[in-house]
Amino acid sequence: MLNKNPNPFPILKTKRLILRQLEIGDEQEIFTLRSDDEINKYLDRPINKTLEEAKNFINNVLNNDALYWAITLGNNNKLVGTICLYGFSDENVSCEIGYELLTNFQGQGIMQEASAKVIDFAFNTIKVQKIEASLHKDNQCSRQLLDKLSFKKLDKTDDTNPELIGYYLKR
Ligand SMILES: CC(C)(COP(=O)(O)OP(=O)(O)OC[C@H]1O[C@@H](n2cnc3c(N)ncnc32)[C@H](O)[C@@H]1OP(=O)(O)O)[C@@H](O)C(=O)NCCC(=O)NCCS
Repeated sequence: MLNKNPNPFPILKTKRLILRQLEIGDEQEIFTLRSDDEINKYLDRPINKTLEEAKNFINNVLNNDALYWAITLGNNNKLVGTICLYGFSDENVSCEIGYELLTNFQGQGIMQEASAKVIDFAFNTIKVQKIEASLHKDNQCSRQLLDKLSFKKLDKTDDTNPELIGYYLKR
């Protein structure tokens, strides 16, 4: 069985970042992430129109099985992006990873630093053997990140949506 419900919620630290649990006070930044056209260009999810929707999203996250971190810079508690592990499978000993950064915080290596830490946590604490990512084929920034993290591309496209490609990283 995977150790997928660590208690208390794991706070992860890197050289520049603190990854903490998402909280209701993050609704403004979550709203920006989920309403910005550029950030959502390749994401298949409804665009948030109100702050209330962002608050509901946070409440849902806090009540489901995903491990959903707010990425913050060490000297400031404000959320600059998110990273999550979800879709845990005891059968396949696997999970999926998702991530996003506010526009002003892209191009600084923040996600590379955050994802390396979260991947280490997934393999060594949750004990998955495989991490999967699903993304739009034109999402170059995300593909570059996965390449840097040594993810491999699946040969076949998603049966339900040929625009999506799958990547995986094995322990
Ligand atoms: C995917 C996403 C998180 C990648 O963000 P990113 O800023 O490109 O990734 P990183 O934080 O790892 O930064 C890497 C960039 O910072 C640069 N960089 C600057 N300082 C750096 C440092 N100290 N260390 C590493 N890289 C650094 C790198 O050269 C690279 O730039 P480049 O892409 O021009 O080569 C971002 O594009 C995003 O949020 N997209 C919208 C949401 C989305 O599509 N999510 C993925 C769904 S599958």
